[in-house]
Amino acid sequence: MTGHAPFVEASRHDDLVIDRRLWEHYEAPTDPVALAMEDRMDEALPMMADQPHDRVRGLLGKAFTLRAVAGLEPSIRSILGELIDGIRPKGRFDLVADLANWYPVRVISRMFGIQPNSEREALFNQYADVFVRSVNPFLPAEERARSARVQAKFLELVSEVVEEHRANPRDDLLSALISAEEDGDRLSTSELMNLMLGLIMAGTETTASAVAIGMFDLLRNPDQVAVFREDPSVRANAVLELLRLGAGLQIERFARRDLEIGGVPIRKGQMVVGSMYAAHHDPTVFPDPKRLDLRRDLKELAVFGGGRHFCLGTQLAKLELETAYSTLIDGLPGLRLAVPETEVEITCDNRRTVVSLPLEFDEA
Ligand code: HEM
Repeated sequence: MTGHAPFVEASRHDDLVIDRRLWEHYEAPTDPVALAMEDRMDEALPMMADQPHDRVRGLLGKAFTLRAVAGLEPSIRSILGELIDGIRPKGRFDLVADLANWYPVRVISRMFGIQPNSEREALFNQYADVFVRSVNPFLPAEERARSARVQAKFLELVSEVVEEHRANPRDDLLSALISAEEDGDRLSTSELMNLMLGLIMAGTETTASAVAIGMFDLLRNPDQVAVFREDPSVRANAVLELLRLGAGLQIERFARRDLEIGGVPIRKGQMVVGSMYAAHHDPTVFPDPKRLDLRRDLKELAVFGGGRHFCLGTQLAKLELETAYSTLIDGLPGLRLAVPETEVEITCDNRRTVVSLPLEFDEA
């Protein structure tokens, strides 16, 4: 689905579901570790079937409030501060390797009370990276089996963290989730572990790519950098416009009955892929779509999805992105691309991302 209307319809359609076992080409993994991991993935929020999903999402809503997200701001600023301190003496750096790859995963690990700069934080980052790469339905079987083994180690670490919080509640998101309750219903340890997997799966690479691609698109439009710098009131909209222009997630759904979208017949068992990038370059909805306009009207924006699986991290992602772009532009004078824009490599598999983004700035 590449047009805006069919993309939106597919992401909300009741009979296009997330259960990949409905796919006509689905093959269960033969490796037992990979199979066990696949079962577990069914219980991570972004992959969950309708009913259990709605129950967990209801409980989550109790902890993942706007207030709780706003409360993360000091932690977000301090993570960025640490990363920028590492960059400042360099004059030239790679935004992907030196900042984007670390930033969102650290935010999540601190949301779960993992000690800053600890060995555990390093392990968490390392495992999360392998785990995120494995969420791709087109991954070869051997690679899937290899990453399932890393995921198993990651789960051990996560379960230790959950148990510690259960025994010793603190003032963080995980403790709030442990105590979240609705009509006597609570999340089990296994559900909490799956939830953490879901947040890592959905909230790290997405945000890391958005930081890097967004910065690339901003810096190659110096007139818009000036707007960003001079008018802070435009920054919240700027984050959304940069997502519109550059974000390239793919959403996948499987048809549980024959249906039709935008005049295209879809048979039961077929996979429907929605291209966020194409949908947000649909000229009937976003005129002159390749132009970056930080003041653009973005009523029709659908970068956070829609329907049942609407992005749980919307507020967090917006906060992370606005803080990152602002800290970089305000904190590193004269920030600019260090290579011609044609040399910046962008890859697209089921995600659109920048491989490396060399930047430079004026040293104080
Ligand atoms: C720029 C960053 C982000 C973008 C563009 C983004 C986009 C999306 C989209 C399009 C979906 C729906 C997927 C579908 O319909 O299949 C989604 C779901 C989700 N996102 Fe995000 N996201 C971002 C950041 C985050 C962050 C920071 C978190 C949390 C830490 C997060 C947590 C989630 C979760 C848990 C889901 C699944 C919700 C559910 O199934 O109920 N996302 N996101």
